[in-house]
Amino acid sequence: MSFVHKTQCRICKGEDLVRFLSLGEHPPVDNFTDKAHIENEKRYPLDVYFCRQCNLVQLLDVVTQEELFHQNYAYFSSASAPLVEHFKSYAEDLKKDFLQKNDLVVDIGSNDGILLQFLTGTCRVLGIEPSANVAEAARKKGIETIDGFFTVEMAKNIVAKYGKAKVVTANNVFAHIDDIDEIVSAVQTLLTDDGVFVSESHYLLDLISKREFDTVYHEHLCYYSVKPLMYLFERFGMEVFDVRRVDVHGGSIRVYARKKSGKPHNPSVAMMLQLEEEAGLHGPLRFSGFQKEVDAIRGELVSLVRGFSKEGKTVTAYGAPAKGNTLLNFCGFTAADLKYVTDTTPQKIGLLTPGSHIPVVSPLILTTETPDYILLLAWNYREFILKKEEALRERGAKFIIPIPEVEIV
Ligand code: TMP
Ligand code: ZN
Repeated sequence: MSFVHKTQCRICKGEDLVRFLSLGEHPPVDNFTDKAHIENEKRYPLDVYFCRQCNLVQLLDVVTQEELFHQNYAYFSSASAPLVEHFKSYAEDLKKDFLQKNDLVVDIGSNDGILLQFLTGTCRVLGIEPSANVAEAARKKGIETIDGFFTVEMAKNIVAKYGKAKVVTANNVFAHIDDIDEIVSAVQTLLTDDGVFVSESHYLLDLISKREFDTVYHEHLCYYSVKPLMYLFERFGMEVFDVRRVDVHGGSIRVYARKKSGKPHNPSVAMMLQLEEEAGLHGPLRFSGFQKEVDAIRGELVSLVRGFSKEGKTVTAYGAPAKGNTLLNFCGFTAADLKYVTDTTPQKIGLLTPGSHIPVVSPLILTTETPDYILLLAWNYREFILKKEEALRERGAKFIIPIPEVEIV
C-alpha cells in the first residue's frame, strides 16, 4: 500500500476532523506517464478536511513521498518566467531584511535553485532537494544541493559541516510535509539564535474565496492559514512575527518565524488573523458550501468543452501544471475532449498527463495551429499568457479560463 489514511490532525493531533471536499480518486499529479506505463497508474482519494480544534485544513490520505517526489519528478520551477521574477524579488527582500556577507542560507525543497541562484555571491547557499533529477539541474547552475528529505539528522550534519543558518527558507514545500514536527525541530536545530525561517505556501483564504479547488493534490497535505501556523510554531518555542500576502500560485502567504525573542511582531500578524476570522476560516460553516461551488465549475466546464467538441471545434489546453491534472481528472477530460496540452517544461513534452492521458506537446505547435478554444490550466499566469499569446488570439483562438469562474476571453 503506498498510502495511509490518518485519523489525527497534522498540527494539533486532535481527531475532530470534518470532511468538506471530495474530489474522487486521482493519480499523483506530477507523475506524467507514457503509453507503456498507463497500466501501472495508481489512484488515491483526494478528500479535504477541516480540524475543529486548530483549524488546519488538510488531506488525511497520505501518499508516500517516494511515490510523489522521485527520479522523474516533472516540476521545474524555473519553467515559468513570472515565477523566476518572483523569486528574484524574494531574494532581494531577504538580502535587505536579514542577510550579511558569509551568512548561510539553506533552502528546503530548493527545486532547480530558483531562489538560491539570486543569493549566491551575496552569502553562502545550500539547497536540499529530494528529486535527484531536479537537484542535478540546480548543481548545473553551480548551487550546492543535497539530495534527500530534510530531517533533524540532516540538520545536525549540515550544522557540523557548514555551521548554523541565518535564514532557512521552505517555499511551496512546507505544505507538502506529513511529519511537520520533524521539520520544525530540524529548522530549530539549523537556525542561529537570531535566525529566521521564511516559508511561502499557497493561502487557504485565496483557495476558498477564488474557488482554487485544483490546487488540491496529494503533494499538498496542508492548506495553511495563519492561525494554525501560529499554534504550530508556538509548540516549538517559536513565533510567527510577520506575514505577507504574495501574488503567486493563485495567492500565497509568506510567513516569517523565529525562536521566541520578546521582540514586537509586525502588525500584519494580528491583521491577517482578523481577516481570516472575518472570512469564516476559523469555523466549519464557511467550508460547508464549497463542494457545491466546485461541482458547479465542473458542470460548466464539461458542458462547454463537450459542447464545442460536438460543434466540431478544436479544443486544447494550455500549461500542464500539477493543478491542471486535478482539474482534468475531476472533470473526467481525456484526449477525446482536449486534443493536446502545451507546456514549456522540456521534461513534460512527449509524455501523457497522468490519469487523463492527454499528450503534452511543445508550445511551438501554436505557431502553426490555431485551436478554436484553449483551456487555460495555468490560470495563475493569466495576464502574462494572454499577453504572450496575443498573435494566437488575433488569429481567432479563444481562451477558456476555469478559475475563479468560468469565462471565455
Ligand atoms: P506552476 O503554476 O506550478 O508554476 O506551473 C505552471 C506550468 O505551466 C508549468 O508546467 C509551465 C507551464 N507554463 C507554460 O506552459 N507556459 C507559460 O507561459 C507559463 C508561464 C507556464
Ligand atoms: Zn488540528
